[in-house]
Amino acid sequence: MTTPNTFYITTPIYYVNDVPHIGHAYTTVAADVLARYWRLRGREVFFLTGLDEHGQKVQQAAAKAGVDPQTHCDRLAPQFTHLWDRLNISHDAFIRTTDKPHQSVVQRYLQQLHDKQLIYKADYTGWYCTYDERFWTEKDVVGGLCPDCKRPIEQLSEHNYFFRMGQYQERLIDHVRHHEDFIRPASRRNEVLGFLQTQKLGDLSISRPKSRLSWGIELPFDKDYVTYVWFDALVNYMSALEYLPQGQPAGLRYWPADVHLVGKDILTTHAVYWSTMLMALGQPLPKTIFAHGWWTVDGEKMSKSRGNVVDPNKMVDQFGADAFRYFLLREVPFGQDGDFSHSALVTTVNAKLANGIGNLLSRTLTMIERSCTGVIPERGPAVLPELEQRIEELALQLPGKTETGFSALLFRDVLLTIEEINGICDEYIDKSAPWKLSKQPESQPQLHTVLNTSARALRLLALLLYPFMPNAAAQMIRQLGLSVDFSKPLTADAVHWDAPLAGSTIQRGASLFPRIESKPQGAKAVSETPASPQPTAAAQTAGPAAPQSPAPATTPAAAPAAAQPAQITIDEFMKVQLRAAKVLAAERVPKSEKLLKLQVSLGTEQRQIVAGIGKKYEPDALIGKTIVIVANLKSAKLMGIESQGMVLAAGDSEVRGLATFVEDVDPGTKVK
Ligand code: MSP
Repeated sequence: MTTPNTFYITTPIYYVNDVPHIGHAYTTVAADVLARYWRLRGREVFFLTGLDEHGQKVQQAAAKAGVDPQTHCDRLAPQFTHLWDRLNISHDAFIRTTDKPHQSVVQRYLQQLHDKQLIYKADYTGWYCTYDERFWTEKDVVGGLCPDCKRPIEQLSEHNYFFRMGQYQERLIDHVRHHEDFIRPASRRNEVLGFLQTQKLGDLSISRPKSRLSWGIELPFDKDYVTYVWFDALVNYMSALEYLPQGQPAGLRYWPADVHLVGKDILTTHAVYWSTMLMALGQPLPKTIFAHGWWTVDGEKMSKSRGNVVDPNKMVDQFGADAFRYFLLREVPFGQDGDFSHSALVTTVNAKLANGIGNLLSRTLTMIERSCTGVIPERGPAVLPELEQRIEELALQLPGKTETGFSALLFRDVLLTIEEINGICDEYIDKSAPWKLSKQPESQPQLHTVLNTSARALRLLALLLYPFMPNAAAQMIRQLGLSVDFSKPLTADAVHWDAPLAGSTIQRGASLFPRIESKPQGAKAVSETPASPQPTAAAQTAGPAAPQSPAPATTPAAAPAAAQPAQITIDEFMKVQLRAAKVLAAERVPKSEKLLKLQVSLGTEQRQIVAGIGKKYEPDALIGKTIVIVANLKSAKLMGIESQGMVLAAGDSEVRGLATFVEDVDPGTKVK
């Protein structure tokens, strides 16, 4: 059993059929925020994430890329770990379902259930969705389409092994009823309960004949079958405890998990399949399965075919990891669906971070530097007693409020509380006008009160913001001239409002959150307008940020007379997706002197590109070369042949040379 001081948090393990997107980043960031918070509170945290590497989807993706599944997984895995590094994810272990020890645990569990006759073999005929890797019953299927993904499905008849899931229906209903926090949010709990109470729970097919799918873990009692990918994947939450982190396994004392974070689409597999599997294995159920909502993009479903998949790497490039993390958890209440747009992200960064916390820090430090030789002064007499009292009251309540928020996974509420105190501090500074106090020698004690109070509030905000924005929080503490070891639990004294801080010498540094400008180059930037009485803080003290939209391109008419090419903004450039691509095959397009038809690999996918480089190159000379392509160009037909991209080459009317790399670069790597 779990000792009360452990905290075990998991994300789903992600399919390696493609590179990570905003949905993956969302769950992982949320889990990281919880892990960081509970570590600071002194709990022994085990934070697990990883990859789901078996099954049809992965096998198909590998086939498409022309490599064996393991090579495909090995190539894609670093895309996830690299992104987690960039997003400052502090996972304690990273599981891959192709790890040998994981496979052994899966086989052990299968054997146990088989021995207990909870797995049996039967004939089965049903409607099968290859994409979702599951059978549907006749009544589920409308118009020959999968009720879940709406793709065409096929009728399949085969021998398979089944897990006696149906026999746990009543026990599961009972568990959900008696454990209010088992499925969250409450609306999802009601959905699952409604489904369990109105529909008969069938048995679960947990095998796939190898003749149809070879990429999986072999059943220990029948070598002609592999296990169903979900039976393999769900077990990761327990198998990891047996062997990860390598050399120092976390151990079963972490079980049951405190929180399984999942997207709403995979709630049933967790709440029903996993729970009944655990019952059959005689294990306690996780304390909470929390299903979060989905992101749409500019109001539309995110999909590869729409070309609107949000790449978290790009968000980190443009906004930094902290700002992106903040946005993800502030934009929508956790549990509800949300819409992502570039302009919403810019608005949040400017309004809440640049004009909010960044500005409060900047103006406070500027005043301390100017009026107190950079040393945080002692508090003097009250200046605006009502506001000061309100700040103190809120500050004293904050640790408790945040604990409630984190316990209920109400990330947005925690951030709104932080923003509230930020706002009151701004009001306090505006009303107490320390820049005026500093000019009157007799008001020095009052000035000290204002500066001490602001610095005090900033310290508290940094401590509370740390789980969301670890880098920014550490910088805030450093700039305040304080020292906090975030790798250790924080004592109650350290977070107390009255903890001493006077006498520390501030270390003003770079602005925490520079405003994001979306204006065309050459136009007057918003941050050039002084909007505050403190000139050096002006870059961050502009009024409430207006929603920014991507900048229109500078028109040629507005460009300088000397035929300079029109300048573009970084946003515009970032729209062009350049990638390294390896030429797998090349041939001449019949009846064309100029055109070559290339097959190139982007690591996870293959493309056909028709390029006008045939006068310069013989097809064979290109095979094996890694070149640069525009990967998000709308496909077009050249001499009736589809071209899914464009190669980059030097030259104008005549090709002088293809763009290639000095070093070896993996196909698919982004080029900027
Ligand atoms: N491999 C399974 C999970 C096994 S867990 C034992 C899987 N993988 S996945 O890569 O397809 O999806 C992982 C997660 O991404 C899911 O929680 C899913 O909800 C989430 N998202 C996928 N698209 C999303 C959005 N557009 N928005 C938010 N999350 C989304 O399922």
